[in-house]
Amino acid sequence: MSLDKFSNLEVKWQSSEDMSDVESGTAQAVITSPPYWDLKDYGHENQIGTADESYEIYHDRLQGVWEECYQTLSEDGTMWIVVDTVMGRGDMRLLPYHIIERAEEVGFIPQDIVTWYKPTAIAGMTDRNVVNKKEYVLYLSKSQNHKFNQDIEHDNGNEDPAISEGQKLGNLWRFPVKRGTAGQNVLHKAPYPRSLIERIVRLSTDEGDVVLDPFLGSGTTAYVALDLARSCIGYEINSEFKEVIDERLSELKQSSLAEF
Ligand SMILES: C[S@@+](CC[C@H](N)C(=O)[O-])C[C@H]1O[C@@H](n2cnc3c(N)ncnc32)[C@H](O)[C@@H]1O
Repeated sequence: MSLDKFSNLEVKWQSSEDMSDVESGTAQAVITSPPYWDLKDYGHENQIGTADESYEIYHDRLQGVWEECYQTLSEDGTMWIVVDTVMGRGDMRLLPYHIIERAEEVGFIPQDIVTWYKPTAIAGMTDRNVVNKKEYVLYLSKSQNHKFNQDIEHDNGNEDPAISEGQKLGNLWRFPVKRGTAGQNVLHKAPYPRSLIERIVRLSTDEGDVVLDPFLGSGTTAYVALDLARSCIGYEINSEFKEVIDERLSELKQSSLAEF
């Protein structure tokens, strides 16, 4: 199975700091998780967030990507960034808040900060901290009249505090992180769960809409978008992910692909 087979998927193996080859207003939603600062070296020269980059420069470069995202989005489009605070060079960095500040400079309107509760998260290396059980989903829009499908059904049942209290979706979401499941890979140890992205895709887009991920990684966004009859444009500098994405997408039911 080759990625070229999917007519509703376009993966660009280049830096998302320049997305000028995507026509303005094409995407209905941007859904992504950015490379962290000072954390992992994926071994590519255009990688954002490597150890030799200052925190300021890291945000300057990310802001460049948010600016490109803003261009690619339709007027009623939204951007969803899954990100946590990060320990870097001895300090805790309030990454989510700094990303929101930079996105606002570009013109985005912050709509909410969703807390993604991860009940299955386990302790890290140090025993001097509490166990981190959460991550954030930054939810921003291009305009006040953005698309938001409030009435969709959510399938997490009563376990999900976001919907157990009433009909309306709240901003505390429970999605377990799975370990060692199919689709995990040695290249990328922390893809976000499909269930989380499914909720975002359903909330922010309709069938046939385009979802853009400027940091595609192992392709979770692409998988979910295609599975839900949306199209996907992804940017990724590390072409070693090609095989992983190929493998994951080959699991998709042909029926969900045939419509395109
Ligand atoms: C946190 S990962 C994304 C994981 C993804 N959500 C998944 O489920 O697999 C961030 C990705 O950004 C990529 N990346 C870093 N700098 C980039 C750049 N300038 N342009 C495009 N991709 C970049 C890295 O190679 C990495 O795969």
